[in-house]
Amino acid sequence: MATYRIGLGVSGGIAAYKAVEVMRLLQKSGCEVSVAMTKHATEFVQPLTFRALTDKHVIVDDYDPANPDPIAHINFSQQIDLLLIVPATANIIAKFANGVADDFLSSTYLASSAPVLIAPAMNTTMWENPATQRNIEQLKKDGVHFVEPVAGELACKTVGTGKLEDVENIVRQALELLDAGTGRRGDAEKGRRREAEKNPKSQIRNPKSKDLSGERMLITVGGTREAIDPVRFISNHSSGKMGFAVAEAGHARGANVTIVAGVTTAEPPAGIKLTRAFSAEEMHEAVMKELPNATVFVGAAAVADYAPANSASSKIKKDGKDSMTLELKKTPDILTDVSAHRTNGLLIVGFAAETNDVVEYARSKMKKKNLDIVVANDITQEGAGFNTDTNIATILTPSGDVELPLMSKRALADKILDEVIRRRRS
Ligand code: CTP
Repeated sequence: MATYRIGLGVSGGIAAYKAVEVMRLLQKSGCEVSVAMTKHATEFVQPLTFRALTDKHVIVDDYDPANPDPIAHINFSQQIDLLLIVPATANIIAKFANGVADDFLSSTYLASSAPVLIAPAMNTTMWENPATQRNIEQLKKDGVHFVEPVAGELACKTVGTGKLEDVENIVRQALELLDAGTGRRGDAEKGRRREAEKNPKSQIRNPKSKDLSGERMLITVGGTREAIDPVRFISNHSSGKMGFAVAEAGHARGANVTIVAGVTTAEPPAGIKLTRAFSAEEMHEAVMKELPNATVFVGAAAVADYAPANSASSKIKKDGKDSMTLELKKTPDILTDVSAHRTNGLLIVGFAAETNDVVEYARSKMKKKNLDIVVANDITQEGAGFNTDTNIATILTPSGDVELPLMSKRALADKILDEVIRRRRS
């Protein structure tokens, strides 16, 4: 029995053939797939391939006399639970970002209230072009989700970022997104689907009830920057994506959220109070100032454990020296200090990014820092490291470990908050 209805949009890139594999895998997972192609995509894969495998007309052109539905882009767009674009070219991304609706697929995007997941694939220079990145940022602000392309050898024989993510990961992320937004697949889904059809906005873009209203969440996000002198610093690879995802999820679920952010490369979520604090010391100070108001603290920041003992006030010169030694001093441990100042009812969530013995280290952090919940992840696993949109985590709680598969950081954020709610109610 089909569970989710996926509109699979295929645009014109060499990776279009991978859309066939995505379609097959979605079907194997019980999804009903309808396919829409751009005209250029048909240069790479015949619509007949998809038609034979879906048993449905594949729409390329609304006005094609062979199209059985006279207002196909409206009907197609309203009968799907997710619009998944594989592969997405720079051109289709630009059209979506700017509301251009000059073919079937771009009209469908505009006419649909379903969540949208885009898997781009293109030449590295096109991917890195500021115009493409600007369009992607815009779409992210519009609530669109991305399966970021990966680095590898591209069809044009260059090596760089722009390769379509693995088919399995695309499908997994699509299903995770749907699960996070509409609950588990299965019979209960039918009722939710009917509700979602009546009120499409109740789906993924505004998925959960306001079960965190009344809570005041304080979240540290991103990396810290520890000055060596006015020019150099020590920092780390944190992008802020995980912490921002938790902030966004908390906000969507009715919590009053405050972010204390260090250095981030990800775009902060709109409409949430944010204070910048770049060094561990500054972050510690900002957190302690906000802490008396908080009912939930989430330490998602990658805080430097050590900082230069004496940050030079003017630029350090080489002066012909072949080596130099930096003396480092321990920074304040924000999480430990928050825990020490725990007032009644404060729930504390920590993170443990590890490379080995992940759960054991996380458990010892939980004990040592007296935490309610620890989110542990192995940063060496593909899809779980810094600066990705996905993560693979185990959530440690007093009532047991919740081992999770690869999922988007946004979906993981909801799982973490589900545990916060469970703890609050226990
Ligand atoms: N953390 C913090 N302040 C610090 C260091 C870490 O608040 N100065 C928080 C992080 O935000 C994260 C958790 O502590 O939630 C990570 O725990 P920690 O034991 O500090 O991890 P590591 O720094 O990775 O420690 P180790 O190097 O010992 O594994």
